[in-house]
Amino acid sequence: MEEYFPKHTFQNTITLLNPIFGLQESQALSYIILEKIFNISKTSIIVNDPYYPDALQLKNFELIVQRLLKNEPIQHIFKEAEFYGNTFYVDKNVLIPRQETELLIQIIGNYKNWEKPKMADIGTGSGCIACSLALSIEGSQIVGYDISPEALQIAQHNASKLNANAVFSPLDILEDEIPHKELDLIVSNPPYVMDQEKQQMKKNVLDFEPALALFVPDENPLIFYKTIIEKAKKALKRGGVLFFEINEQFGKETLLLFQHHSYNEPKIYKDLHGKQRFASAIWE
Ligand SMILES: C[S@@+](CC[C@H](N)C(=O)[O-])C[C@H]1O[C@@H](n2cnc3c(N)ncnc32)[C@H](O)[C@@H]1O
Repeated sequence: MEEYFPKHTFQNTITLLNPIFGLQESQALSYIILEKIFNISKTSIIVNDPYYPDALQLKNFELIVQRLLKNEPIQHIFKEAEFYGNTFYVDKNVLIPRQETELLIQIIGNYKNWEKPKMADIGTGSGCIACSLALSIEGSQIVGYDISPEALQIAQHNASKLNANAVFSPLDILEDEIPHKELDLIVSNPPYVMDQEKQQMKKNVLDFEPALALFVPDENPLIFYKTIIEKAKKALKRGGVLFFEINEQFGKETLLLFQHHSYNEPKIYKDLHGKQRFASAIWE
């Protein structure tokens, strides 16, 4: 078997990826590829002891670089994504959990001292929000809803794998009522990207992530927010809280919707880039 050196493979991988991803992202991707394919850690790259890859590993490496260069997300290639300290199974049927959404879990956790809350997550996708809340709020129960049967299967798989107290069920929020009463909390990160925003989106999102999870019509961009705000009134108990992730362009409109529907204490929260990204209000 031929002798290879981790530092050299690392630099080589960066050079291959750099034209598409730029230096910083190429480095991050290269660390992952070396770890996953050759079992080479960051420390092994520094130590730089030789290693002896077999033909299959080398072929795999080549294939993965090719797939990345065709804009396929690394999370789809390895079928996993990190979210709030856990690894979730993901594939083309679910949105890849976004780092910014992790802040929503923190906002909810810090909102008040929850006591065994009963919760629902509308548009659960991979189940990343539902499972993270179930795992971080003691004694909680959560049902995750989605219109996509494939997403529900994935969410259930993730909950079982992570041992999260979450169950999942089909629901078309635009057609059906939320089948609960007396919930303490409803959370939703619904589709919120307008069709007209497609031009500014990266190819790795447009070509590989489910349109069903992303897009809303230009003429009714708040359709999910309006519907959930209306339907949540019957599902939340008095004092129950509704949390959203929102399109940064619609903070003011979301607050107005809450006010119009007689919710109390409407609030907007910014993400780590200072953009209006989350909202909450209390149903009293
Ligand atoms: C933006 S993704 C959010 C996924 C996940 N909660 C997250 O934060 O990563 C929106 C989700 O809403 C689901 N969805 C789209 N239309 C829906 C509908 N009419 N009723 C229920 N869920 C819907 C999609 O299948 C998708 O999983």
